[in-house]
Amino acid sequence: MVLRRKRNPLFTIAALAVGVAVILSGCAAEEDVEASGSPSPSPTVSPSPSPTPSPSPSPTPSPTEEQEPEPTQDDTDGRPQASNPRGYDIDTPSSITVVVSKTRPLLDVEYEPETVPSTVHSVNGQPLHPDANEALAAMNRDVTAATGTGFVLCSGYRSYWYQHDVYNNFVNSHGQEAADRTSARPGHSEHQLGLAADIMGEGQGCALGDAYTNTASGQWVNENAWQYGFILRYPDGLQGIVGYHYEPWHWRYVGEDVARDMHEGGYDTLEEYFGLPNAPDYL
Ligand code: DAL
Ligand code: ZN
Repeated sequence: MVLRRKRNPLFTIAALAVGVAVILSGCAAEEDVEASGSPSPSPTVSPSPSPTPSPSPSPTPSPTEEQEPEPTQDDTDGRPQASNPRGYDIDTPSSITVVVSKTRPLLDVEYEPETVPSTVHSVNGQPLHPDANEALAAMNRDVTAATGTGFVLCSGYRSYWYQHDVYNNFVNSHGQEAADRTSARPGHSEHQLGLAADIMGEGQGCALGDAYTNTASGQWVNENAWQYGFILRYPDGLQGIVGYHYEPWHWRYVGEDVARDMHEGGYDTLEEYFGLPNAPDYL
């Protein structure tokens, strides 16, 4: 499948502006590579071209059940599957419970979600999926009321081609091995869903790191995000499962049912919760 780049000139200008802003702020974020302005190399990405999303079953979650589904391998397309993904749709790109990882590219690699402008201040103007936006705004209101300090959105929705540039610029700047520890290849990023939010505390800029998580506001988010439907997607020390280094800033909206179920069941990752194989590397 040949993917044709659908470039929006306004996007290019906006991306360059963000890059300049990132340079000025000394940002070391996962998007800092946008600042390099280097031409993209030919990446060894392998987005799945099979646009065959499975139909959405009616979610029938059972929060009280703690039976872990057995991982199995689906021989039809090579994607790791769970034998019993708890009734949630983890395949359809528009499902809020879709699981995207190094081993599970989006079934429609150029999927574009519905998005809305972020209610939380979006530093680079990136929007969010409506459900993620509503939940993030509620969390920001409550953490501000509880601690006096809220957060800003440093990165929200990124298109396939935006992610393509982010990843390739990272490869140019740091090499592919380092890039693969922190930046998803296009078609493999949760940011393409509009359901991922990279956040930092108000006034902290967007040099993504652990600065926010070490504040009272960040601690409040760490303890309460599940109540708003968010999980920390790349926890400390679990690169062997999720494929990426610790990202204390990257929150994934999965909906309140799954987030609560994971919290109450002690699950740290979507892989463990849905009984999927570990996803440390690309297939
Ligand atoms: N930093 C995460 C893995 C992404 O690029 O989606
Ligand atoms: Zn992120």
